[in-house]
Amino acid sequence: MVQTSPRPPKSWAFNPLQSGILSHAPPVDLPPHRTYNLLVRFLASSRPTSRLTNVATGLLAQLQTGNMNAFVIYDSTFGNTEQIARAIADTLGEQGSVRVARVGEAGTLDVEGLDLLVLGCPTQRHKPTPAVQAFLVSLPRGALQGLPAAAFDTRYRKARWLTGAAARGIAKRLRKTGASPLLPPESFFVAARLGPLEEGELQRAGDWAREVLASFEHSVPDGTEVSSPSDGDNPAE
Ligand SMILES: Cc1cc2nc3c(=O)[nH]c(=O)nc-3n(C[C@H](O)[C@H](O)[C@H](O)COP(=O)(O)O)c2cc1C
Repeated sequence: MVQTSPRPPKSWAFNPLQSGILSHAPPVDLPPHRTYNLLVRFLASSRPTSRLTNVATGLLAQLQTGNMNAFVIYDSTFGNTEQIARAIADTLGEQGSVRVARVGEAGTLDVEGLDLLVLGCPTQRHKPTPAVQAFLVSLPRGALQGLPAAAFDTRYRKARWLTGAAARGIAKRLRKTGASPLLPPESFFVAARLGPLEEGELQRAGDWAREVLASFEHSVPDGTEVSSPSDGDNPAE
């Protein structure tokens, strides 16, 4: 279930440190945030002595310390995908707050204040799990407009045309909800049906999460596609 509200437009390209507006501020990596530009524009137009300017400067400082709000939603039958989801969440947590939940326990997905969604599950019969399919079809078209998102799955290490890849269906459906894919869908591999994960896959999950973060930090305003993964048309693909 999703609580929908229109997402304000994002524009993350403007850097007040480079512009000189906040030339006194220390050089830091600035996290993208939809209120960021509003604050910067306000500071650029307000009188330096106004009280509101002080408030806005304080808020901007908080944004600069990194407050990305991410949600990792997963499904897992035997625990392998859960391990991947938690490794991804651990890495994302280095840049902000991260919630991680199994799809049936995710509750209402409140997109207000959410900066990044990562969704993954095992590939079963070439598709996402029934619970993830149900979650995806419950998302109204446009519900995640402009929300940066990434999809992953677990599956066998064989040709994709033999195994299918749940992440492709997930990514396709997420795009239908308006989400902006940060990276092409990614697969992590199990050695057998019950697991375990192949050696090095948890490490690779952390590395992938770092790539997600890097793409997130270089995201562009709403409506501009960051990457264009080629995937099928059916969430149950
Ligand atoms: C009912 C069922 C169907 C499966 N179908 C596929 C499949 O089509 N392709 C594939 O690569 N793996 C398939 N698998 C293997 C799962 O991908 C594997 O069990 C999963 O990655 C383990 O993750 P988990 O521990 O999070 O459940 C299937 C497993 C089950 C139980």
